[in-house]
Amino acid sequence: MRIYHSPVMVQEVLESINFKSLGVLVDCTLGSGGHSEAILEYAKSIGKKIKILALDLDYEGIEIAKKRLNNNLDSIIIKQGNFSNISNIVKESGIDKVEAVLFDLGVSSLHLEKPIRGFSFRQDAELDMRFDINQTDSASNVINQESEETLKNIIRDFGEEPQANAIARSIVKNRPINSTLKLADIIVRAKKSYKYKSIHPATQTFQAIRMYVNNELDNINSGIKQAISLLKKSGRIITISYHSIEDRLVKKLLLEESRECICPTNILECVCNHSASLKLMFKKVIKPSLEEIRQNRRSRSAKLRVAEKI
Ligand SMILES: C[S@@+](CC[C@H](N)C(=O)[O-])C[C@H]1O[C@@H](n2cnc3c(N)ncnc32)[C@H](O)[C@@H]1O
Repeated sequence: MRIYHSPVMVQEVLESINFKSLGVLVDCTLGSGGHSEAILEYAKSIGKKIKILALDLDYEGIEIAKKRLNNNLDSIIIKQGNFSNISNIVKESGIDKVEAVLFDLGVSSLHLEKPIRGFSFRQDAELDMRFDINQTDSASNVINQESEETLKNIIRDFGEEPQANAIARSIVKNRPINSTLKLADIIVRAKKSYKYKSIHPATQTFQAIRMYVNNELDNINSGIKQAISLLKKSGRIITISYHSIEDRLVKKLLLEESRECICPTNILECVCNHSASLKLMFKKVIKPSLEEIRQNRRSRSAKLRVAEKI
């Protein structure tokens, strides 16, 4: 049985970090510690002393990461927390500015493979999907209490599901819905026609509910903005995203911060007083190698972006 989540694009992440000037790196999404471990081991191999401040919402993941990072615990501070609060967490840790910030977004294999967490439509479990198990609202509250209109909007906006209307109607008609498999079955039956080729018909709805439950887009928006202001000059922000909604937001935020002017295009004279704070390191997004995709199917949708503070 696999114990850890396999970190994605590790080599590319290592190459994106400027180890020469690295002092402190913030790993905003520790998960089971794969990226942090690789970064610490690489720094050690080149004789570089660094510090990582790592956080995650998921207490279970943190406990697993602590075991994995057992040999490196003197170089890493691990905290349970939300990256939407990264400025305060960094300050409380006695750190002022940092040289690198890593966001490896979304869900971990640990979530998907542990039925009790209720993220997967492949195993039966209570509807949960919370990254932070202390949070009050779970997927069950959303599925069983939200109005049909709200459910439709969630499924359409966070899942880009073309049949959001029919799915929301069917969910409301079949309530109460208490298990992942029951929800998946309702979705499959609500979708009039679907091409069941590369993805399961419930994929987009499950993604949407998970994103809503965990307030993912707001957290990314706020976390990335704060991360940029925490970076020292020449510090790097590194992001890995896994689906188009997440990646569009990351791309927009990084692109906006790399522009001198963010006025609407129909305005002739600049009125925004904005100035660029980032330089994009690559024009195009970086994707995993075919070899990595062959070895770790979950990496197939990964997109890496890197920007440097100017
Ligand atoms: C793809 S996994 C990270 C895997 C990790 N890089 C590794 O090597 O194991 C994403 C992680 O981000 C965490 N997460 C999601 N949203 C978060 C947030 N707003 N603040 C902190 N952690 C968050 C999830 O709990 C999950 O463990």
